[in-house]
Amino acid sequence: MQLYATLAHNSQIEGARTAEFIPTLKTNVIHSESSETDSKLWDSPESVAAYSGEPHLVRSERAAFDSCFSRGLEGRRVLDLGCGGGRTTHFLHEMGADVVGVDISQNLIRAAKQRAPQIDFRLGDAESLEFDDESFDLVVFSFNGLDYLHPKSKRCKAIREMWRVLCPNGRLIFSHHNLAAFFFGWYKFMRPWKLRFRAKHILNGNALKNECYIRELPASGPGALIAYHAWPTQVIADLRSLGFELESIHSNSLLLAFLQRALRITVLTKLADPWPYYTFVKRNSPR
Ligand SMILES: C[S@@+](CC[C@H](N)C(=O)[O-])C[C@H]1O[C@@H](n2cnc3c(N)ncnc32)[C@H](O)[C@@H]1O
Repeated sequence: MQLYATLAHNSQIEGARTAEFIPTLKTNVIHSESSETDSKLWDSPESVAAYSGEPHLVRSERAAFDSCFSRGLEGRRVLDLGCGGGRTTHFLHEMGADVVGVDISQNLIRAAKQRAPQIDFRLGDAESLEFDDESFDLVVFSFNGLDYLHPKSKRCKAIREMWRVLCPNGRLIFSHHNLAAFFFGWYKFMRPWKLRFRAKHILNGNALKNECYIRELPASGPGALIAYHAWPTQVIADLRSLGFELESIHSNSLLLAFLQRALRITVLTKLADPWPYYTFVKRNSPR
């Protein structure tokens, strides 16, 4: 078992008040099992069934969309990356945004177009976007979609692309697989197979790393996917080095959202939400 017991506090992250509770673990070892995350898996019938159901928004998505511009999304240019069957695209469109949905899977894009022919859906890869610089006010990569870009160089390339196509002060909304929740999460984490999964990755040391890639259980998606998992400190530090500042964080759990508002701290959401949503603002040039 790999144990990285040295905890370091990172006071640069989002103000000392919340940062002092979040440990940055001293390793950057990436646990990479294989490199094939590809569009074939996302094209599979299982994936199409999973990601082209009835459109709905989860609580944290609604909160993130509502919070990012004071006058709402009416008339805003929005890119919904990894849009799948258009679940979130539908609502961005309903909110008045001028939205384009882009996904790497031909079958998901076909399903999205069938459901909503009035919306602009396109086949495309997040690593290399067809859009001009500063084309969008908001980029969304929902439901942990960014975590499926493997290896990490692809993830960083996609973040750079999102930075490029955003206008100055544009917003980026995405969620991620939170390693801290392997220790502190209860929300959506208590089913027996999830508890086994969680225990396994605590015991093998993965959950103690800053970041790692973990093969997902087939029950949780189209199967055989490798997903990036990280502590919030790592995600926020990466985004900062790539030119983004954290604006807000949104929990799916009513209780966590209530505690965040009442206590004016984000630390509980960062520790306990397995898939927190972040809103980042495009600021400086990427380092
Ligand atoms: C977890 S699914 C989420 C789908 C959709 N956003 C939703 O919430 O229902 C991740 C999506 O990201 C897409 N995806 C994966 N890698 C991609 C890439 N490099 N470029 C664009 N889309 C990608 C997949 O095809 C898939 O539709």
